[in-house]
Amino acid sequence: MPYENLENVKAEVRDGILYVTIDRPKVLNALNGQTVEELYRIFAEGRDDESVKAVILTGGGEKAFVAGADINELAQKTPITGKDTSERGQFILSFIERFPKIVIVAINGFALGGGCELALACHIRIASEKAQMGLPEVTLGIIPGYGGTQRMARLLGKGKALELICTGDRIGAADAEKIGLVNRVVPADQLMATCEEMAKKIMSRGPLAVRAAIEAVNQGSEMSFEQGQFLEATLFGLLCASDDTKEGMQAFLEKRAANFQGK
Ligand code: COA
Repeated sequence: MPYENLENVKAEVRDGILYVTIDRPKVLNALNGQTVEELYRIFAEGRDDESVKAVILTGGGEKAFVAGADINELAQKTPITGKDTSERGQFILSFIERFPKIVIVAINGFALGGGCELALACHIRIASEKAQMGLPEVTLGIIPGYGGTQRMARLLGKGKALELICTGDRIGAADAEKIGLVNRVVPADQLMATCEEMAKKIMSRGPLAVRAAIEAVNQGSEMSFEQGQFLEATLFGLLCASDDTKEGMQAFLEKRAANFQGK
């Protein structure tokens, strides 16, 4: 059975949505090595689980999404284990970024350091008004090590990324929305409903098309414009061979809702 024997992360599938909750409230859901590995297991199992059509990731408790990597563990790192930890985290967050079904993060409180990096790896970021975000690593004498320097600069541009990374400042949800760090801010009591509504909307679209869109945007942004367009055209052509594309067009012409099968 998938999603079993987990200590620090809860995972359950309801109505096609895989709900993943990082649950170490005593340390504000800080990411120790075990938690990161549990996240990897869940996403690896979720990728192959046909009942999963979308993921919503959040933090347990009222206060935090994730308050960073676990500083108790970080304090023990040597140059070698530090590099290993960073590379492993980068690999796992890239795995989440490349997940073939939509991954929405519900940022319910502090999203700092590794928590902010994890949110950056998700496809869509919805924040509660209570959320506070930032990359405070320089205040500890380190830099973000789970892809944060790269993803933040790509998302916000170099100027804003360097300001946030070099000051280590935390910003509130409204400012995060203003600079594009989150897609939307909602009252805390509407956070999960907003994420579910968005997940359901995307789940009603052609799953192969959503998967191709994630690939085109992710991979395309690492290529030249021309190469990215080539990828886009290739994926576009591939989709034209799918049953879903035929169904989507047919449904439009017949003025009914499409019934996509992901084939
Ligand atoms: N790693 C390990 N433990 C952490 C943690 C982390 N990243 N973040 C919080 N905790 C622990 C605290 O040590 C504290 O434990 P204690 O109750 O045994 O003392 C508990 O979680 C609650 O945190 P506390 O600092 O008391 O809450 P607060 O409301 O005063 O402050 C934060 C909240 C998020 C501002 C503060 O905890 C913080 O700055 N955390 C570290 C953030 C960070 O630098 N992350 C990047 C790591 S690379």
